[in-house]
Amino acid sequence: MIKSALFWSCVVLSLAFIGKLLLDTGTFRHIETKGLTQCQLMVPPNGEGQAFEDFAIDYEKGVAYMPGDNRAWWHTLNISLASQSKRGKMFRLDLESETFSQYKLVNYPYEHFHPLGIGLLKRQNNQLFLTNYRVVDGEVVGTVEIFETSTSNEKQVKWIDSVVHPLFTMPDDVLPIDENTFYVSNVYHYRVDKSPYLHLFETFGRRPWTDVLLCSKTNEWQCKILIDSMATSNGIAASLDFKTIFIAFTADKSVRVYKYNSENNLLTYTQSLYVEFFPDNLMVNDKDELIVAGHPKPLVFVQHEKDRHVRSPSEIVIFRNPTSNSTYESLLLTNGEILSASTVGATYKHKLLVGALCDHGILMCHDLS
Ligand SMILES: *[C@@H]1O[C@H](CO)[C@@H](O)[C@H](O)[C@H]1NC(C)=O
Ligand SMILES: *[C@@H]1O[C@H](CO)[C@@H](O)[C@H](O)[C@H]1NC(C)=O
Repeated sequence: MIKSALFWSCVVLSLAFIGKLLLDTGTFRHIETKGLTQCQLMVPPNGEGQAFEDFAIDYEKGVAYMPGDNRAWWHTLNISLASQSKRGKMFRLDLESETFSQYKLVNYPYEHFHPLGIGLLKRQNNQLFLTNYRVVDGEVVGTVEIFETSTSNEKQVKWIDSVVHPLFTMPDDVLPIDENTFYVSNVYHYRVDKSPYLHLFETFGRRPWTDVLLCSKTNEWQCKILIDSMATSNGIAASLDFKTIFIAFTADKSVRVYKYNSENNLLTYTQSLYVEFFPDNLMVNDKDELIVAGHPKPLVFVQHEKDRHVRSPSEIVIFRNPTSNSTYESLLLTNGEILSASTVGATYKHKLLVGALCDHGILMCHDLS
């Protein structure tokens, strides 16, 4: 009697868990393509296979900085697969003329370069903070690399520094505060290659095990946990005046808004903005609007990571007044026809640019209203 009651309780609980997972991950949501007719795929010359999970825009210069990688290896973190194409590529996109040029990486001392997220530090010579994956002692390790652009030579970026830290579990996005300080998000606590079962449980159980770190350099780089117990810490962005910080809580389908404290670089939570999809990277444009890109069907996204032929839907929305109004407008919604699994979107004048985790190139959309 007790055994059977226990058995049926387990069945009911499992079904409830699966039902909630399917509901929360948009499995039953019907997606009608919207906004795609004005878009076309642009692949940089010499950029075949390069996927742009994130990019950064300098609106005054009208330039997008785009680190790319071939991510056929990404869902395994397997070094042999990563070694088939050891280095991703960095591009510069002129947003007026829509022309790409490839950056030469000067002084970069490592064999592997697999950039993922990027944050821009605006200076006379802009600095680019990149999350990166490279091989250290025979193992794939997540790092933050710092590069400097040069106004006198637009064909190269110069590597300055690399940060590796035991608290980096799976670095995803980075937001520089100044030359010696940045925030970095860890998108997973358990890595698929080191702890595959815990990684599975973390991902599908949507466990709040990830965090955002604050790293700073005095003599050497030191990091500490700034926000913990997050259900998939992801994109980070700042308002134009840097008084507000936005952080994507992917599995929670929200973007949390924080007040930035310039005395100690700590953050105070103020409110949450909710979306109908799993938010990925965040961008703030020159009008202080917040653009959120993400995945309406994350379970399909997981399949797409493994097999590019499975198309994964993409969604981009914009919050016009993200600090005062939680209403958003849709900019793009697709079934992943041309570009699957959008991870980043940004507006520039009447254009929308979209990048993805695995699909190569940039989706460039015109005539936004
Ligand atoms: C990594 O990939 C290589 C080449 O496909 C394969 O032979 C090897 O078994 C993989 N290693 C692991 C740990 O899965
Ligand atoms: C929030 O924005 C929406 C449109 O973006 C607008 O219709 C609504 O009136 C705004 N709400 C407030 C309280 O300002």
